[in-house]
Amino acid sequence: MKTTSDQYAEIDRDREEYGVKHSEQLGWAVMRHADVMQVLLDWQTFSSVVSNRLSVPAGMDPPAHTPFRKIIEPYFSPARVAEFEPSCRQLAHSLVKKMLERSEHAEIVGEFARPFAAHAQCDYLGWPNYMEEGLHRWGVRNRKAIREQNRETLVKSAEVFEYLIAEMLDDRRRERSGPDRDLTSRLMFEQVNDRQIKDEEIVSILRNWTAGEIGTIAAAVGIIAHFLAAHPDMQELLRSDFSKLPYAIDEILRITAPLTTNRRVTTRAVNLGGHEIGAKERITILWAGANRDPRVFEDPVNFRWDRDTTKNLLYGAGIHVCPGAPLARMELIVATEELLAQTKSLRFNPERPPVPAEFPDGGFASVPLMTERA
Ligand code: HEM
Repeated sequence: MKTTSDQYAEIDRDREEYGVKHSEQLGWAVMRHADVMQVLLDWQTFSSVVSNRLSVPAGMDPPAHTPFRKIIEPYFSPARVAEFEPSCRQLAHSLVKKMLERSEHAEIVGEFARPFAAHAQCDYLGWPNYMEEGLHRWGVRNRKAIREQNRETLVKSAEVFEYLIAEMLDDRRRERSGPDRDLTSRLMFEQVNDRQIKDEEIVSILRNWTAGEIGTIAAAVGIIAHFLAAHPDMQELLRSDFSKLPYAIDEILRITAPLTTNRRVTTRAVNLGGHEIGAKERITILWAGANRDPRVFEDPVNFRWDRDTTKNLLYGAGIHVCPGAPLARMELIVATEELLAQTKSLRFNPERPPVPAEFPDGGFASVPLMTERA
């Protein structure tokens, strides 16, 4: 099994040796910051339409991408995110409290990160609680299928998920819910290119907001908890000054990427990092490679307070830059604040070391910690 340090260290080695590396599994893996920026900014050459499946808006290029992006962005406006913060905090507070009450031994990923990420996203979208369990099981199956590159299971699990969402849309229609019920209902009333949005588009948007992102948020919480346990001095500092958290969280996740890859396909022959790449070739962006590139980040694997934050590609760049970043940042700040506020210390358990996640998952499969309640 690959360890996390292996996964990230292997990318570091490949970035320095090859810059861009070809393999059967990933096509052309792009690891240097400058090359990743070339891919992100030149969407005409590096298309996001990587499969026949509808993927709104992540798997689209302009002009199709543009109107969807326009309707999606307001869903993550500062006002919407601020409105959601109190209930998100309540959720984080009660999950951390329950975890600490159960035992001084906590497994952060299973007991906090995953339930927090799934529950928060369901709450944000106005989904019933049973969807949370469905999402969780779907995520486990889907990650396994991706690892095993089992196309049949992947297609089947996508269908199950689509069925679950379609049922929920039907319920809302039966109940004649208006657009103000919640964000899912609002989406059902959107117009795209002067026509009503289609169900398959709604399902695809919601799949993008949940299926992919819950795993990324959960991985991020696990990575932050791991970092805090590994750096007791930083834990102290951050516990005494929450205003440092927004910078600190982005820097922690620059060092250890929660999201490992995104894909593109070339539309024409192109030179990338000194490699001549033909048309219709698969491209994989390895975010950890770019964000740990010593050409851009001096002493890249160590935390520094003086980084140029505009270079951090945690949330991407260009036309596909993460629209959900304001929501993700708020959720991660709230989760970290609750972990710190309700404890005096978070320490590793020498008998149960953290278990690194297996690529393509980022971060950790489990982070067992010993906790001291505040
Ligand atoms: C720590 C959490 C997150 C990280 C690290 C992250 C990172 C990213 C990155 C790097 C991209 C660009 C992908 C590319 O260029 O191909 C992206 C796109 C996207 N993200 Fe996030 N994301 C996070 C959370 C979220 C959340 C919570 C949502 C929504 C609920 C969200 C919605 C999206 C969407 C819709 C896109 C595609 C945008 C487009 O194609 O125009 N993300 N994300």
